[in-house]
Amino acid sequence: MADATSILNVSPVIPVVTIDDPASAVPVAQALVDGGIRIIELTLRTESALESLKLIAAEVPDMMLGAGTVLTPGQADAAAAAGARFLVSPGVTPSLLRHLVGMDLPVLPGVATVGEAMAVLEEGLSAMKFFPAGPAGGPDYLAAIGAPIPAVQFCPTGGISLKTAPDYLQLANVSCVGGSWLTPGDAVEGQDWPRITVLAGEAAGLAVSRSYSVRALPSGVSSGDSSDAS
Ligand code: 3PG
Repeated sequence: MADATSILNVSPVIPVVTIDDPASAVPVAQALVDGGIRIIELTLRTESALESLKLIAAEVPDMMLGAGTVLTPGQADAAAAAGARFLVSPGVTPSLLRHLVGMDLPVLPGVATVGEAMAVLEEGLSAMKFFPAGPAGGPDYLAAIGAPIPAVQFCPTGGISLKTAPDYLQLANVSCVGGSWLTPGDAVEGQDWPRITVLAGEAAGLAVSRSYSVRALPSGVSSGDSSDAS
């Protein structure tokens, strides 16, 4: 098991990307890199997802390539074999969590409740996906659970946009957000790579519109570390 905290610190946004046609995989990944986003969560929601993973792994080496929507141990193994350098799941079952923990690459298990986060934490993993972020409670919920479980760093995903991302990124227990808004279906289908580069550039710009070293803390929590507070 490798700690996934470093994965959360690559970029303010991890694009969650679903690709139907593997021929689009490399141009999409390259368009993201050109816009300044060097990490991708490619979902295993299509039949050809493993082929797309292989193509990106081979042809876009600058990209930190992850596989998302990992639902089973078999999918985790297949994604790793196809070249994924980290794995993301929308949620966990006991057997999937056990399997992910035994793997040799960083994993971001998905959680939506305090109990689920505690179960993942018990396995020694402190970096998690919070999904579906908007419907599950949004920034207020994340701020509240930062008090009892401050050790967990989240990548909230689900219902987030360029506009709402800063509401999450200001939280002490959020290192980055995930979202599909960087690669809209019509842009991918229409091969509008410049549009994806523009969207990636806007998302990458979230890194400069806030300081990673100055974070708001969940109310009632004291960091005890002046370098963390504004
Ligand atoms: C995910 O798997 O993280 C979500 O499908 C992404 O959610 P979004 O489409 O609302 O950004």
